[in-house]
Amino acid sequence: MVAEKYLYIKTFGCQMNVHDSEQIVALLKASGYESTDDFRKADLIIVNTCSIREKAAQKVYSQLGKFRELKRSKPGLIIGMGGCLAQQWRSKIFGRAPFLDLVFGTHNIHQLPDLIRTIETTGSRLEETTFHESVKSVGIVALPQNGAVSAYVTIMQGCNNFCSFCVVPYLRGPEVSRPSQDVIDEVKALADRGIREVTLLGQNVNSYGKTVGTDFAALLHEVGKIGGIERIRYTTSHPKDLSFDLMRCYADIDKLCEHIHLPVQSGSDLILKRMNRGYTKAQYLEKVESLRNICPDISITSDMIVGFPGETERDFQETIDLMEKIRFNNLFSFRYSEREGTAAVKFADKVDECIKRERLQALQSLQEKHTLERNRALEGRIEDVLVEGVSKKMPDEMVGRTRSNKIVNFRGKKGLIGKTVSVLITEAYLHSLRGELHQGRG
Ligand code: SAH
Ligand code: SF4
Ligand code: F3S
Repeated sequence: MVAEKYLYIKTFGCQMNVHDSEQIVALLKASGYESTDDFRKADLIIVNTCSIREKAAQKVYSQLGKFRELKRSKPGLIIGMGGCLAQQWRSKIFGRAPFLDLVFGTHNIHQLPDLIRTIETTGSRLEETTFHESVKSVGIVALPQNGAVSAYVTIMQGCNNFCSFCVVPYLRGPEVSRPSQDVIDEVKALADRGIREVTLLGQNVNSYGKTVGTDFAALLHEVGKIGGIERIRYTTSHPKDLSFDLMRCYADIDKLCEHIHLPVQSGSDLILKRMNRGYTKAQYLEKVESLRNICPDISITSDMIVGFPGETERDFQETIDLMEKIRFNNLFSFRYSEREGTAAVKFADKVDECIKRERLQALQSLQEKHTLERNRALEGRIEDVLVEGVSKKMPDEMVGRTRSNKIVNFRGKKGLIGKTVSVLITEAYLHSLRGELHQGRG
C-alpha cells in the first residue's frame, strides 16, 4: 500500500532528541504519516533541534535553509521545528524563518497530532512551547526506527543543576521523574516486541526518583527483573549524584552493563566551582576508584569542556592530569561555547578561540592514546557481544557491542541479529574492535 502522506524528520543533538524523534515518528504514523528518508517526497518535515553549543544551532539554520528551497516548489509542504532551539526561540523563530508552519517545544510532543491537524485544516501557523509539570506520555511504545534490538526509555525530563555553561535546564525545564511503574510497563512492552537492551534516559538519571518517592538504584533493580531484557544501560549521570547504592548495582544486577558515562567537564577545582558542578577533582577520582573496586572491568567515558572562562594553562594541566590518572575509555570534548541566558555569560576572562583550539587538540590526541590503549587491552579476550545488525561496509560481517559498549565487527550470519554471542577479540582500533565467533557458542 502506498502511503498518502510522508514525514521526513531530521534530528540534531543528544539521545534525548533521538528518542523524542522516535516518539514523533510513532505518533504521526498513527495520524497517517509514513516516514521517509527522502525529504523531497515529504508532505511534512520536522526538524528536531539542539542548542547546546553555537555550532549545533548553526547547523540547524543551514538545514532549515534547504527546506525553505523545497517549500518554494511545494507550497503545501508543512515544516515544523521542535526541540531545544525551538524551545529557546519560540515564536521569535518565525521572524528568522517565516516559512515555518509550526514551532513546538520540548514538552509538547504529545500535542503534535492535534497541532498538525489544525495546520492541515486551517493553514494557520502555530507555536506551542508551554512547559508541563509531569512527563507527558505519548501513549505509544516507540520502537527504534531500524528494527534494532536496543531501545531508549525516558525515565525523567529536565534538569535542576544549572551548571553555569549549560542551556538545558532552561530548555527542558525542571527535573521531573516518571513514575517507576510507567517505566517498568514500557520496558516490558519493549521486551515483548523483541527488544533485548534498554538505555534509560535523562539528563541526570542518577538523581531519578526525587519527585516520585524512589531512587535510581531501586529502579535499576526493578528493571533488572524484567524477562527478555538482557542488557541495561543508562545515560547521563552526574558525578555528584553517583551514590554507593548505584555503584553496588554493578555487582548486584547481572543485566547492568559495565559502562558508565560520567561527565567530569574539567580537572580544575577552580573551574569546577565556577561551572557549579558540585564536586572536586579529588571527589571525582575517589568515585572512579570506588567504581573500579566494585566493578574492575567497568568502562568509563566522560565529557570535557576546554576554554571555560578563567581557565588558565594551569587549570588545563589539571584536566590533563585527571585524564592521565583515569585513562578514560572514551571522551567527548568540546570548546566552551557561550550560550545566551546562562550564568557563565557574565564571567570575565574569556579564553581566546586559538587557545581553546590548541587545548582541545592536545586533549584529543592524549585521549586517542588512552582509547587505543584501553581497546588493545581487550585483544585476546572473549567478550559477550549483542548482535545489532549487518555491517554497513561488509555485507558478510555482523556488528554488535560488548557489554562495555565497544563496537565489534566479526564474520557471521544474519540469523545472529538479536542474539548474544561469544566473540574472541583479535584486533583493536580507535573506534571499534574486530573479532571472530568463538567456538562452542553462537
Ligand atoms: N546532562 C549531561 C550533559 C548534557 S550536554 C551532564 O550533566 O553531563 C552534553 C555535554 O555538552 C556536556 O556534558 C558538556 O560537556 C557539553 N556542553 C554543554 N554546554 C556546553 C557549552 N556551553 N559549551 C561547550 N560544551 C558544552
Ligand atoms: Fe546541563 Fe549540568 Fe544539567 Fe547536565 S547537569 S544538563 S550539564 S545543567
Ligand atoms: Fe541539545 Fe537539548 Fe540535548 S540542547 S544536547 S538536544 S537536551
